[in-house]
Amino acid sequence: MASPRSPGSPGTSPVRPWALLAELTHGCPLRCPYCSNPLELATKSAELTTAEWEDALRQAADLGVVSAHLSGGEPLLRPDLTEIVAAADGAGIHTQLVTSGVGLGRARLGRLADAGLRSVQLSVQHADPATNDLIAGRRSFTDKERTAALIREAGLPLGLNVVLHRHNLDALDALLDLAPAWGADRIELANTQFYGWALRNRAALLPSRERLAVAARTVRRRRAELAEQRIEVVWVVPDYFEGNAKPCMGGWGAISFTITPDGTVLPCPAAAAIPGLDAPTVRDHDLEWIWHRSRTFTRYRGTAWMREPCRSCDLREKDFGGCRCQAFALTGDASATDPACRFSPDHHLVRDLVDAPPAPASPTLGEPRRPARRAAAVAPEEAE
Ligand code: FES
Repeated sequence: MASPRSPGSPGTSPVRPWALLAELTHGCPLRCPYCSNPLELATKSAELTTAEWEDALRQAADLGVVSAHLSGGEPLLRPDLTEIVAAADGAGIHTQLVTSGVGLGRARLGRLADAGLRSVQLSVQHADPATNDLIAGRRSFTDKERTAALIREAGLPLGLNVVLHRHNLDALDALLDLAPAWGADRIELANTQFYGWALRNRAALLPSRERLAVAARTVRRRRAELAEQRIEVVWVVPDYFEGNAKPCMGGWGAISFTITPDGTVLPCPAAAAIPGLDAPTVRDHDLEWIWHRSRTFTRYRGTAWMREPCRSCDLREKDFGGCRCQAFALTGDASATDPACRFSPDHHLVRDLVDAPPAPASPTLGEPRRPARRAAAVAPEEAE
């Protein structure tokens, strides 16, 4: 079913996106407390149909997109994942599957590869199987290890993704050892970004400055060694601790966009939390109009929206004032300078958190992410 198109001549903005985050479902077999999905998850009945995703992917390619992360939730819960991959490939978009690895069998992986899947990013919660399963909220480590082997057998590039927090930072060496052991080409160490469930669980997840410094030294020490094995190590900086605002998403509406399971189109996956954004959906508007003309995308694009201290800052074209979602989450004003920046008048909000004496030990992992209502179970034929 084709989406109705919006009036207006497209293409007047000089910027064009090249990357898409396609959140195919909010259903997920895991319950990670650091999940950046919104607290209000899209229901299965609201999800875009196969035809709607196929149409959206064609439009995305026309707009300039060449790379899509197929994510969620757990994208394997979509029984039409192969059709979605084929549609992206047919439109000239490279796809990477972002998965927990739970429920992926050899046959389905083969079909996905045949449909044009280019790589897989596999999440790992901890190097110790029992702790991995505790953080993930279900037994899954064995599935991940088996899935990694299947991915290599299929000849697809494999990346591991580890979200770091106080419950796994001390296991960094062992986590890095998983990359050669499982045949990964890349391991991404993503210090928790505090959105959605992670923001709700921040007190339980935030590490101490000292432990983070040790972790950063570990990464520096291991990076060269793993490079000799042709394994790339990516360290996503913990902006709460650095005093620098991150150039979130490469700038608002600058290079990428997100389509959520119900078709809402956002400049980033967390932006739905910003009130009054009035985000459009692919069911109501075409992507060309949404990207170039919608208020949602033009609102914080470029630098004209900035006020001081960003407006006159030499870094404004580099960090874009930081993250709009974080500015809103911490100050209630999405147009404020990101408090992670040391020049922000609200920087104390972050500094007070990270400089607080560390709790002796966090007794809990935080509140587990709730399942999406009526989330589907892992497709039984894939639990092979
Ligand atoms: Fe939304 Fe940073 S996560 S702008």
